[in-house]
Amino acid sequence: MSYDREGLIASAREAMMKAYAPYSNFYVGAAFLMEDGTVITGCNIENASYGAANCAERTAIFKAVSEGRRDFKALALCGGPKGVVDKACYPCGICRQVLNEFCKKDMEILVATDSGYETTTLAEILPYSFSLEDW
Ligand code: THU
Repeated sequence: MSYDREGLIASAREAMMKAYAPYSNFYVGAAFLMEDGTVITGCNIENASYGAANCAERTAIFKAVSEGRRDFKALALCGGPKGVVDKACYPCGICRQVLNEFCKKDMEILVATDSGYETTTLAEILPYSFSLEDW
């Protein structure tokens, strides 16, 4: 599959810098590439009531779905303390489940670091997943 991986990672980085994370100081950015080339981004948004925080991945998915878009093609992610991305920040468990609702199992996920990126898929990071479509 050919697309601008570096460009998608740059979008995730840009989104990460918009994180609202005054409680954890951990900034995360997500950028989805849609089938028509559109990029839809998200950042984590925290709250004084800690449990109300929303992860970057879910911000981006909810933005897309609420605009009628579900044609997810690839996802780039980056995150770290105050935006220092010295290691790969993989999606949390809740976000993996939400990704599973809308994205194909073989969707490419790029997890960026300062020195490059790691490539994975939803199938790889969410084995034995739960979906009502399996029944
Ligand atoms: N966070 C994300 O945005 N995505 C993840 O997959 C992991 C965690 C956010 C949530 C919270 O604002 C901060 O990172 C620290 O957990």
